[in-house]
Amino acid sequence: MTQPLGIASHNEGKVREFRELLSPFGFAVKSAAELGLAEPEETGQTFEANADLKARAAAEASGLLSLADDSGLVVPALDDAPGIFSARWAGPTKDFAQAMGRVARELHQAGCEPTGTPAYFVCVLSLAYPNGELRTLRGEVHGTLTFPPRGEQGFGYDPIFIPSGYAQTFGEMDPSAKHAMSHRAKAFAALSDYLQKERAA
Ligand code: IMP
Repeated sequence: MTQPLGIASHNEGKVREFRELLSPFGFAVKSAAELGLAEPEETGQTFEANADLKARAAAEASGLLSLADDSGLVVPALDDAPGIFSARWAGPTKDFAQAMGRVARELHQAGCEPTGTPAYFVCVLSLAYPNGELRTLRGEVHGTLTFPPRGEQGFGYDPIFIPSGYAQTFGEMDPSAKHAMSHRAKAFAALSDYLQKERAA
């Protein structure tokens, strides 16, 4: 029997990705739009807190097992900014050229050479059960920043991020290469592992 599962996202791209990941597990995936879910305010101070509050709100409103994510770019030399504010740094028009420019500017102001600065992407997935239980999984990919931005692939901060051991930015790489190593891929792998173990138990 297929178990319904709510996705606490209004982003159709994310819902599609979740649907693909979850297809081997026989879930009947429903998006936030299909379930008529509101988007809660992201008031948490960590990726985990924000993913948990979105998943919990969806589980409470729908009565279904619900999955949410939160992700962003962390720059330790900027006290972990933009971090949970990664989307918000791009402003209402989602201007990532501006957000990437702000990263470079703030690194200069902090006395750091922007190119070569260590950084990492984080993706946290949270699975909320209708009984209030939560399962939270994290994936990270580490690398360095480069300026000016390079490449037209991907989205967000991809053009300034070079994963460790590679020469190209995520913005220059073939998307399949990025998807094989990304923070999202690692969090999804942890979720698949967890679901497989849960099924076997
Ligand atoms: P969220 O939808 O609240 O998780 O926002 C995450 C934000 O982090 C996005 O808007 C991007 O700015 C950034 N981000 C997350 N993952 C990636 C990625 O794989 N590449 C580039 N930027 C990313």
